[in-house]
Amino acid sequence: MSAGPPDVPALQVSDVRLRFGGVVALDGPSFTIEPGQIVGLIGPNGAGKTTLFNCISRLYQPDSGQITFGSTDLLALSADAVADAGIARTFQNIGLFPTLSVLDNILTGAYSRTRAGFLATALGLPRTRREEADEQQEAWALLESMNLEHVGRELAGNLPYGTLKRVELARALMQRPRLLMLDEPANGLIHEEVLELADTVRRLRDERGFSVLLVEHHMAMVMSISDRVVVLNFGQKVTEGEPAEVAAHPEVIEAYLGGAA
Ligand SMILES: Nc1ncnc2c1ncn2[C@@H]1O[C@H](COP(=O)(O)OP(=O)(O)O)[C@@H](O)[C@H]1O
Ligand SMILES: [Mg+2]
Repeated sequence: MSAGPPDVPALQVSDVRLRFGGVVALDGPSFTIEPGQIVGLIGPNGAGKTTLFNCISRLYQPDSGQITFGSTDLLALSADAVADAGIARTFQNIGLFPTLSVLDNILTGAYSRTRAGFLATALGLPRTRREEADEQQEAWALLESMNLEHVGRELAGNLPYGTLKRVELARALMQRPRLLMLDEPANGLIHEEVLELADTVRRLRDERGFSVLLVEHHMAMVMSISDRVVVLNFGQKVTEGEPAEVAAHPEVIEAYLGGAA
């Protein structure tokens, strides 16, 4: 293991509930991500996966329940403070700045962990030269480790989707996360890209030691890289276990292997 994030705590989700009007989006699921684990979160469309993501990253406030990261009560924190606590995420629909270069997009990932802060940089306020040089070096190293250095100077808006998914991942890594949350990272990728992404996520986890929460429909990816898999349906946890156990669960077979598939 090389320079990983310091002391990765467990993420604990307990009995989280959230309704939108008459829709029960989350109906009390509980599970734990042990330090350094990759946990896959699967379930049909509308199961509540993104809503749970948004509760953890504090874009949504659950009606009840607890979410803790080690001894930190995440529900007491703002979204910015969650990022400061070492939780980084990507979005189901890419959340990059199209008019910034790939390098600058990745640098925005550093600002949640440096004192100048995101706004200061977005507004072009000065950062120390030392800070900038270190961050640039780290960003290029990340680009290199993800085979993206050839697009570092390109505008994000000019790049194909599959490349942007990797850029978004690189930006999240620039936050030096202790927990990395990926919402459908394989969405829109071709098969070879999915395999490469799976390898990359696993390798980075092994090298850096962070935990991963992976929401993904691509079953081969989820089953190949997850240490554990949690299944949601109608906002409830259907089952949870090691990939092979979960793949053998009747409701999972019904939902993913039966029917139209
Ligand atoms: N901001 C919102 N306002 C109203 N309903 C929402 C909102 N976000 C999610 N929902 C509803 O909550 C349920 C769960 O959605 P979501 O978490 O996006 O599912 P998934 O990511 O598993 O496909 C769906 O019925 C969805 O329509
Ligand atoms: Mg979703």
